[in-house]
Amino acid sequence: MNRPLFLALVACTFISRARCASDAVEWCYHLSDCNDPNWPTIAPKYCNGSRQSPINIVSASATGDSGLTAFTFHNYSSTVALTKITNTGKTVKVTLASGVQVSGGKLSEAYDSLQFHLHWGNTSSMPGSEHTVDGKRYPMELHIVNSKSSYNGNTSQAITDSTGLAALGFFIEEMSGNATASPSSWHTLTSYLANITEAGHSVKMTPGISLDDLLAGVDRTSYYRYLGSLTTPTCNEAVVWTVFKEPIKVSKDLIDLFSSTVRIGNSTSAHMINVYRNVQPSQAVTTQLKSTASKASYSISFLSILGAIYSRI
Ligand SMILES: *[C@@H]1O[C@H](CO)[C@@H](O)[C@H](O)[C@H]1NC(C)=O
Ligand SMILES: *[C@@H]1O[C@H](CO)[C@@H](O)[C@H](O)[C@H]1NC(C)=O
Ligand SMILES: *[C@@H]1O[C@H](CO)[C@@H](O)[C@H](O)[C@H]1NC(C)=O
Ligand SMILES: *[C@@H]1O[C@H](CO)[C@@H](O)[C@H](O)[C@H]1NC(C)=O
Ligand SMILES: *[C@@H]1O[C@H](CO)[C@@H](O)[C@H](O)[C@H]1NC(C)=O
Ligand SMILES: *[C@@H]1O[C@H](CO)[C@@H](O)[C@H](O)[C@H]1NC(C)=O
Ligand SMILES: *[C@@H]1O[C@H](CO)[C@@H](O)[C@H](O)[C@H]1NC(C)=O
Ligand SMILES: [Zn+2]
Repeated sequence: MNRPLFLALVACTFISRARCASDAVEWCYHLSDCNDPNWPTIAPKYCNGSRQSPINIVSASATGDSGLTAFTFHNYSSTVALTKITNTGKTVKVTLASGVQVSGGKLSEAYDSLQFHLHWGNTSSMPGSEHTVDGKRYPMELHIVNSKSSYNGNTSQAITDSTGLAALGFFIEEMSGNATASPSSWHTLTSYLANITEAGHSVKMTPGISLDDLLAGVDRTSYYRYLGSLTTPTCNEAVVWTVFKEPIKVSKDLIDLFSSTVRIGNSTSAHMINVYRNVQPSQAVTTQLKSTASKASYSISFLSILGAIYSRI
């Protein structure tokens, strides 16, 4: 997740090291003095906290919760909801129009979907998802950042609430076979990368692709849930995390464009690679209860055992 105060961070880049305007901290992914092992030192509040993200999800340790119902995605089918794409110097971020929302899924109220951004490694051969599952790191991870609707998009307020933000995490996996430029929604999205090669660049997006198009093929009723934090400084512990089990499938050529097109600064700076935080200490994770089919067969066998016992009495 990206800290909402992007402007403050940009200002930081041009001001003094370590600390600058609006107490935003200068942090990075690529240098040993400002990369993630140092965040607890350079941003102890809150990066040295006790519910930090991302985590490794141990699938066998996730407990069942029948309250983890389906989500309602409002305007996720809108082809005018993706308005702007930005190179922040730390990620590629797409700003969403107002009126895009998510509710359900045991969230306490509707949340406004404000933006999505991505995390990646260095080409699909060096994976760069933030969460891992049973130790597996995926090539990329997409985060949709949502803020409680009652805060009206004021993320400064949302980050002071332990459930003020809801992040939806989607893994991205390489499509099998030799497909290129697919799916077409991702071809369209990545076609903008050549327009935002330098930090601070942003371009308006043309209507055409929707969030549903980008999330195609993922069963959005099957997910992990835990309480965590922003994954970038200042790592505020304000995030209800949802990590979907099924990955989005994208062809290798498109995945590779992220690590070979956008840069962390101007045209002479390094490519943006390995833009993810390493996993943090584990947290309690919940997920949907096992399928009703196996529950049904369990109760049938339980009843037949009971029946067998009664028939002996
Ligand atoms: C982080 O917190 C731990 C205990 O909660 C403490 O021992 C350690 O000194 C803290 N580190 C920093 C850099 O603040
Ligand atoms: C969201 O949906 C409402 C109808 O519920 C519609 O009026 C509005 O234009 C939509 N917004 C976007 C960005 O698609
Ligand atoms: C990233 O991948 C490219 C292409 O494979 C390689 O040349 C480069 O050395 C890699 N960078 C790092 C930091 O691993
Ligand atoms: C957001 O909330 C904070 C704290 O209540 C307030 O100071 C700030 O002015 C608000 N920002 C906007 C854009 O309304
Ligand atoms: C992919 O391409 C290789 C080499 O061109 C070919 O041998 C292989 O059968 C192709 N695989 C699929 C699934 O199409
Ligand atoms: C992106 O760059 C291409 C090639 O330079 C240009 O033709 C196109 O208009 C740009 N698109 C946007 C949205 O700025
Ligand atoms: C790019 O940034 C570097 C370091 O900030 C600076 O020295 C260099 O002059 C810049 N180059 C261009 C072409 O702006
Ligand atoms: Zn993120």
